[in-house]
Amino acid sequence: MTVAIRTEGLTKVYRGTTALRDLDLEIREGDAFGFIGPNGAGKSTTIKILATLVRPSGGRAEVGGIDVVRRGDDVKPLIGYMPDVLGIYDDMLVGEYLEFFAAAYRIRGLRRRQRIAEVLELTELTAKRDAPVMGLSRGMGQRLGLARCLLHDPQVLLLDEPAAGLDPRARIEFKELVLELRRMGKTLLISSHILSEIGAMCNTIGIIEQGRLLYAGPIDEARKKLGAERVVRLRVHEEGDDERSVNAVLDLFRGHPDVEAMKPGASGEVFVRVRADAPDISFLARDIVRAELHLLHLEETVLSIEDIFLHVTQGKVA
Ligand SMILES: Nc1ncnc2c1ncn2[C@@H]1O[C@H](COP(=O)(O)OP(=O)(O)O)[C@@H](O)[C@H]1O
Ligand SMILES: [Mg+2]
Repeated sequence: MTVAIRTEGLTKVYRGTTALRDLDLEIREGDAFGFIGPNGAGKSTTIKILATLVRPSGGRAEVGGIDVVRRGDDVKPLIGYMPDVLGIYDDMLVGEYLEFFAAAYRIRGLRRRQRIAEVLELTELTAKRDAPVMGLSRGMGQRLGLARCLLHDPQVLLLDEPAAGLDPRARIEFKELVLELRRMGKTLLISSHILSEIGAMCNTIGIIEQGRLLYAGPIDEARKKLGAERVVRLRVHEEGDDERSVNAVLDLFRGHPDVEAMKPGASGEVFVRVRADAPDISFLARDIVRAELHLLHLEETVLSIEDIFLHVTQGKVA
């Protein structure tokens, strides 16, 4: 795997305020890296340095192996940067807005028309081509922002708080779009101060606070390091009442070598804690079917990013 983004000892001091302290990051090609931290943590500063817009005070940063300070002009074609504030282009239509930025990227003629059509399609804004930018919903506005930074087909996307202020539905649409970009092989750095916003989109995360990186690595590994247990929420339906359904599950898995504990939940649910080294959880479904119980629901619950974040900021991972 090639490294798409690397920083070493990256530091930024704004007139006495240290925004970033010795940041070491390595984001591999094809990763979706969630950059998580509270306001003022240094996320935007990091992203702007990578986008060649802010000069670091110390250390190094590379995109695609190219130094962002010494060879900024070579880095620009590789990156799509979506700022946290998109700016105001109220009088423009969606199509004009993209024409404007395509021109700025020096994309001309037939290729310009093709690229605009492609990014509109990808962000599902084709039907809005002749709509005023001003009239777009927040979710559509964010998708347009993304369309704009995809025009020159960059390999690396730097998205600063793209999900901020999106309603749940827009967030799901945005997540779908991110997954599509990942399928296309893009590398994504997505920042957020709301942890749950980006957990489901990213395979790796970095947690930053007061300019210092507290944790960076795969989400799965973070969960393992924290001794995350695997808990399965399951529900069967038995003739009679919830209690019979719950008891059927408890009877079935009592004493099973891969089951550590069980706890009845609300309305017939049972939470089953599976041993961390069990190969998988499929035995639960298999045994339920074999016992001819009617399976209604089976789902692994995993540690949320919030949980990880709480553990990390309490110093349990450093
Ligand atoms: N242009 C600037 N001048 C002075 N201080 C700044 C500037 N930009 C950011 N800072 C400071 O640097 C720190 C990190 O800010 P920022 O990178 O925007 O954090 P985040 O994006 O995580 O909220 C904050 O203390 C912020 O006030
Ligand atoms: Mg910010």
